[in-house]
Amino acid sequence: MAIIIDNEKQLFTLHTKNSTYQMKVGLYGVLLHTYYGARVDGQDLSCLIQQQDRGFSGNPDEAGSDRTFSVDTLPQEYSTYGVGDYRESCLDVVQADGSIAADLRYSSYRIEKGTASLAGLPAVRSEDRGEETLYITLKDTASPITVELAYVVLPECDVIARSARIINHGAAPVKLKRALSCCLDFNLPGSWQMLSFYGRHAGERNLSRINLYHGKSRIDSVRGGSSHHQNPFIILCSPDATETNGLCYSMSFVYSGNFIAQAEIDQIGQMRTVMGIHPQGFEWQLNPDEDFQTPQVLCSMSADGFDRLSNNLHKTILTHIIRKPFANTRPPILVNNWEATYFDFDKEKLLNIAREAKNLGIEMLVVDDGWFGHRNNDESSLGDWYVNEKKLQGGLTELSKELQDMGMQLGIWFEPEMISHDSDLYRLHPEWQIQCPGRKSVKSRCQYVLDMGREDVRDYLFERISEILHATSCKYVKWDMNRHLANVWSAVLPADRQGEVWHRYVLGVYDLLERLLTEHPDLLIEGCSGGGGRYDAGMLYYTPQIWCSDNTDAIDRISIQLNTSFGYPVRTMGSHVSVCPNHQTGRTSPINTRGNVAMLGTFGYELDLCKLSDEDKEAVKQQVLEYKRQFVINCEGSLHRLVLPSERKRFSAWMTVSEDKTQAIVTCVLLKAQANGDQIWFRLRGLDPAANYTVVETGECYTGQALIQCGMVMPVLREEYGAVQFHLRAVAPDDFGV
Ligand code: GLA
Repeated sequence: MAIIIDNEKQLFTLHTKNSTYQMKVGLYGVLLHTYYGARVDGQDLSCLIQQQDRGFSGNPDEAGSDRTFSVDTLPQEYSTYGVGDYRESCLDVVQADGSIAADLRYSSYRIEKGTASLAGLPAVRSEDRGEETLYITLKDTASPITVELAYVVLPECDVIARSARIINHGAAPVKLKRALSCCLDFNLPGSWQMLSFYGRHAGERNLSRINLYHGKSRIDSVRGGSSHHQNPFIILCSPDATETNGLCYSMSFVYSGNFIAQAEIDQIGQMRTVMGIHPQGFEWQLNPDEDFQTPQVLCSMSADGFDRLSNNLHKTILTHIIRKPFANTRPPILVNNWEATYFDFDKEKLLNIAREAKNLGIEMLVVDDGWFGHRNNDESSLGDWYVNEKKLQGGLTELSKELQDMGMQLGIWFEPEMISHDSDLYRLHPEWQIQCPGRKSVKSRCQYVLDMGREDVRDYLFERISEILHATSCKYVKWDMNRHLANVWSAVLPADRQGEVWHRYVLGVYDLLERLLTEHPDLLIEGCSGGGGRYDAGMLYYTPQIWCSDNTDAIDRISIQLNTSFGYPVRTMGSHVSVCPNHQTGRTSPINTRGNVAMLGTFGYELDLCKLSDEDKEAVKQQVLEYKRQFVINCEGSLHRLVLPSERKRFSAWMTVSEDKTQAIVTCVLLKAQANGDQIWFRLRGLDPAANYTVVETGECYTGQALIQCGMVMPVLREEYGAVQFHLRAVAPDDFGV
């Protein structure tokens, strides 16, 4: 049983395979957090909480002369503003009388089999793998506000997914100034570090690791999308944590808009972490009998370092977030025409690329930006989702037929959330643009943002996209978002509800995605936002893969993809082989290195195949075959970051291991040539120590134990950016040692 309740002690214990999470109703009905960590059975862990009288930390009136009980120092499940907890709050309510306070006390609980579904929001799906959900209701002492906390336990993934629902049972509206999703209090003082993933366009997910200090360490986005700049995912760990050792916790936000993730060390060395929708610019009117549902946070922990933590999250996303059947279905190997042609293409050019692609074993042509309106550069036509017949005679239907005839599938790029001023849509509906009245708009990449909170906008987009999907055989859409929001104001909301626009925008995007997927259940959507600018577990619920970065340089991609893998599985990472010199960095790297790196993701090409040399075409043919062979190991097995580029600078290495541990693929890339260089060596992980393995390429045999304990020496690598890749296969004892 994943959830154990001790009614007498009012103790709630949640168990996953390797972790335990516990809460207890404390004095005066305050719900206290007692423990989250490695699995502990049969123990009331409130023994870890010490109460003592601390100056300037007040006590509730009910405590009488007891000065030791204070919400300012005790570990809370869901902190509130206004009643004496001065640390970061999850909930700020402006009550009907104007006071800003909520004092939540325990009221009841219920348990349900399966996972919780959250109205209008993505959330972990039920898969009949022992999932259970605990709901705990808390009531404010002085107002008709209740909060229902949901804890979805995914025992096999070592994940607890948290969310909160705030309900107004009163007769008058109240305002929420903040409604975060999750608070995790760690009351035992110790040294903590935080890992987060910052970046920029074409430079996503750099790893930051900082020591937490007395004060607040925050990452966030107020851009309207989860952003390239900070990913809505953090790891909290002990300073000695490595890939294979040490205590670490993660919080992943299942949401694609503004967020905060914050860790705070308080006056007595306790740590409070919170995650949720960013309070800046947020205000939500909660009318009588309405509720506000916060997005979900996936909490996971590992007592054995980051490797296990990441693999917990990979399993969770593959099993409970990604739509069926995409988690276990190999995506089509595609060629995308963006870096091949940019806007300069016509039907013949595309068909030539497609013919060449077909010869090489590639399965789909994705027609990127520029097929609609009169778009020949990025200055026009967003919103006019009608084919440009000058470029594509016969339209997409004809193109789709011709591709089908040659045995190729069609994929189409859309950027539904955007509008160009030079478009028929803008001329017809200028009011559909998000903009502040009387203020000059902010242009970004020459484009503006549609008010996705409006139903009429979503209806229009649904109708346009759906019609194209029905008229073609297209089963793949690349869904882009190439700018962030500014001048945020909506013409369909009154002045006192403009604080809702940011969140309604995200809800609108989710609604449109849901509608399209209901109408076209086989559709595979690849998310994209100028590359990996909206790479989050929320989007992954609708778009099983996300274009990882507009930077296609294989060497830069090693860091981008390995760092992305801290929180997200290989199956989700859009990754293509592109031309050299690379368009973003000017770097030249061997085609096999580009192939090896792109295989750590959803594989494809982003170049003009017609312009490749015969030698490179042969390499492409082999890569396509190899990707098909590797898919199950790479995408359903475990991933191990053996050496990050930031760690050694000279080389990087990673490996993937099949679920049954009988097959593995080890890849190593030389990042810096060195005369008379050091031996390149690293330990392997994820293998069965009791098994014997042969290296397919060389016939050498090793015990799993030796590979794990002693490691593997790479052949001498001289060429800068050169790569080697080995396949390991478990062999029967008789075949070993030859
Ligand atoms: C974004 C995407 C690219 C490409 C262009 C087209 O930058 O990330 O892959 O689709 O838009 O404008």
